[in-house]
Amino acid sequence: MNDHTVATVEELDDGDRKLIELEGREVALFRIDGEFRAYTNWCLHQGGPACEGSVTGTSTAEFDRDDLQTDLQWCKEGEVLNCPWHGWEYDIPTGECLSKEGTKLPSHPVEVNDGEVIVSL
Ligand code: FES
Repeated sequence: MNDHTVATVEELDDGDRKLIELEGREVALFRIDGEFRAYTNWCLHQGGPACEGSVTGTSTAEFDRDDLQTDLQWCKEGEVLNCPWHGWEYDIPTGECLSKEGTKLPSHPVEVNDGEVIVSL
């Protein structure tokens, strides 16, 4: 594994992202809730640039069998990445694909050392 210094801590505020190319691969560095995450910019659906999509929230639904009503809730505002090609959703803090259970964006270890953000690939 090779370490790459890709940013300084001050460079990204919460909610920011930075696209970089490492060893011929597009990687996106996200800062969310003060933590850094790095994912390959490759959607699990058809290989689209998932990490370049809009950041929003998502909706969840609960069905009440007694009332036969569905309760829709908006959640995770600012934590959900939408692939620009067909809208598959990803949870930024975990990389989990919300559109296909049990799958995740390919991730890379991130470490902060002396104010520098280092991604290992
Ligand atoms: S390629 Fe990302 S949703 Fe289809």
